[in-house]
Amino acid sequence: PVPVLTIDGPSGSGKGTVSRLAAARLGWHYLDSGALYRAVGAAAARAGLDLADVEALARLTRDTRIEFREDPDGELRVLVDGEDATDALRTEEAGAAASTIAAIPEVREALKDRQRGFRRPPGLVADGRDMGTVIFPDAPFKVFLTASAGERAERRYKQLKGKGVSVTMDGLLREILARDARDADRAVAPLRPAPGAVHIDTTGLGIDEVVERVLAVVAS
Ligand code: CDP
Repeated sequence: PVPVLTIDGPSGSGKGTVSRLAAARLGWHYLDSGALYRAVGAAAARAGLDLADVEALARLTRDTRIEFREDPDGELRVLVDGEDATDALRTEEAGAAASTIAAIPEVREALKDRQRGFRRPPGLVADGRDMGTVIFPDAPFKVFLTASAGERAERRYKQLKGKGVSVTMDGLLREILARDARDADRAVAPLRPAPGAVHIDTTGLGIDEVVERVLAVVAS
C-alpha cells in the first residue's frame, strides 16, 4: 500500500508548514484537509445554507469543486468552484466557519473518499485533526503535534501582523482556546492523538527542528 504520514494537532501547532515541508522533502503528495473544511464552510455561507439542513449541506459538500494548485512560487492555492479562494480561506472567520461545519457528521462523511483519493504513489503527508484516527487509520507513520496555547497564539499573531491584519494577542488566545474546546469536545471525530502516534511538542522549537523530528518518524 502507498505509505501515508499523518500529522494531526490543534490550531497553530505548526502542522501546515511542517507538513508541507515534510512532503517536499519526501517527494510525497500533500493533503491539507483543513482547507477542504474551510472551503465547504465558505461555500455554505455563500449559499446561505441553514446549518441544520444536513441533507443540503452534505449535497453541497459533495458538489463543491475543490482543487489545489501550486503557483510559480511554489505556494499552494485553493480553487473553490474554479475560483482562487486561498486568501479568503485563511481568515479566522473561515477557520471558525470550518470548525462549525466540521462538527456535522454528514459533512465529514461526504469528505471521506475525497481525502482518501489523495493517497497516491509515492506517498502522502496528510495534515488535519483526524488523519491518523479516522481517514488513514492504517497509516504506517503517525505524528501528533502540539504546542502551548500561548505559543500558538503568538505564532498566529506574527503571521497575521505580517499580513497587516489588526489583531490582539488576547483576542487570538481566546479564539484558539475556543476552537480547541470545540474541536476536542465535539461528538464526531474529536481531536485526539491516534493510537501509536509520535507526540512532538513544538513549543520553543524552530520549524526546521520539527521537520527533522517528523522525518525521523518516517525513517525509523
Ligand atoms: O490551521 P488551523 O488548524 O487553524 O485550521 P485548519 O487545519 O485549516 O482547520 C480548520 C478547522 O477545520 C479546524 O478547527 C477543525 O474544526 C476543522 N478540521 C477538521 O475537523 N478535520 C480536519 N481533518 C481538518 C480540519
